[in-house]
Amino acid sequence: MKAKEYSDLAARVRASSGDHPIWVGWGIIEEIGERIKYIFTPPTVYVISDDRVSEHARMVQVALEAASIPAHIFMIPSGESNKNLETVQHVYKWLADRKAERGHMILAVGGGVVGDLAGFVAATYLRGMPFAQVPTTLLAMMDAAIGGKVAVDLPQGKNLVGAFYQPRFVLSDVKTLGTLPARELASGWAEAIKHGLILDKELLATFEKNIREIKSLDPEIATQIIRDSVAIKANIVSQDERETLGIRILLNYGHTIGHAIESATQYTQYLHGEAVSIGMMAAASISKSMGLLEASDVERQRTLLSNYGLPINVGALDTADILEAMKSDKKTSRGQINWVLLDGIGNAVTNNRVPDDYVMEALDFVLKDSSEEDELGIGC
Ligand SMILES: NC(=O)c1ccc[n+]([C@@H]2O[C@H](COP(=O)([O-])OP(=O)(O)OC[C@H]3O[C@@H](n4cnc5c(N)ncnc54)[C@H](O)[C@@H]3O)[C@@H](O)[C@H]2O)c1
Repeated sequence: MKAKEYSDLAARVRASSGDHPIWVGWGIIEEIGERIKYIFTPPTVYVISDDRVSEHARMVQVALEAASIPAHIFMIPSGESNKNLETVQHVYKWLADRKAERGHMILAVGGGVVGDLAGFVAATYLRGMPFAQVPTTLLAMMDAAIGGKVAVDLPQGKNLVGAFYQPRFVLSDVKTLGTLPARELASGWAEAIKHGLILDKELLATFEKNIREIKSLDPEIATQIIRDSVAIKANIVSQDERETLGIRILLNYGHTIGHAIESATQYTQYLHGEAVSIGMMAAASISKSMGLLEASDVERQRTLLSNYGLPINVGALDTADILEAMKSDKKTSRGQINWVLLDGIGNAVTNNRVPDDYVMEALDFVLKDSSEEDELGIGC
């Protein structure tokens, strides 16, 4: 059945397996029982969550049971170190003990770790079970829950085992972000701001105009801007589901150097959005060197990221380590990096012929002056 068009619909993602709604609202977890039924009524729901999100997972369970849908919860321990095949096996065992069937549903309630792992379980258990997402971090709402990429880590690297597996719906309740630590929230704003920088000048201006309301999660203003920003990623995924057409790559603005910073610091010093924020400053510097972006726009981006509590440069890190990490990035093809740059605010382009000098200048630009970083309290 086609899902009812709720007024808080951010987008419908069109995928090869069918299309699905992304709802972004305030306090809408309570309606999950009613909303799920517009899509299909699973005989049983298996909620996978983590131990820091138990309050929200219980609310989902209560709402489903109020709609006469039995719901069971499996809590994994919080944190990236648990996004692995060992945890997956515990979940498989739980599902087998409970005699889960192919028509039952797996529901992820949590951040990107839970969403990626639960999605991987859903894609593989019984050769695939219906899956849905209730993301509870801003990063997961903005990014991880949209696009159907599900995966777990191996000791050799992050997200090495996975699949493209689309959910039946994504329900983002902005109210759940009220319990999220401030640093995690800021990290999510980096991805949201990125959507404005790459494709939507007006969205960016709204981020600039309403800083206080957005950061304090004003129910109307914050919910609306999250909805608008989510729609940008959803529309890109709808155009290029499998990352084959060169459109989805635009979402990687800031990610080449961002990933390298995460990897060079062994994923221990920066949250993903923080590293992307620094990476976006480096990409803006390259865009300026290439004659695509005005110095005033680089400054505009820097001010905005700082205002949202994000780092714009990195302290004690070696250029050589970052260059080394960039070389082994899986998105590098035959030694050529396909850079995502800004040709003006709101207009991302790709370029695989960036001179090495410009890259070195960009690294200097973000590696210098750690004093401001200390002011933000995010130094390494
Ligand atoms: N599939 C994709 O396309 C995609 C995209 C980006 C990132 N990711 C993955 O997402 C993961 C990172 O996601 P994340 O940043 O959400 O991290 P996370 O899932 O580890 O959540 C961050 C922390 O916040 C806690 N938390 C979650 N929601 C909360 C809430 N409402 N209140 C209080 N605490 C809460 C979690 O327990 C955890 O401790 C990584 O594994 C990354 O690889 C996937």
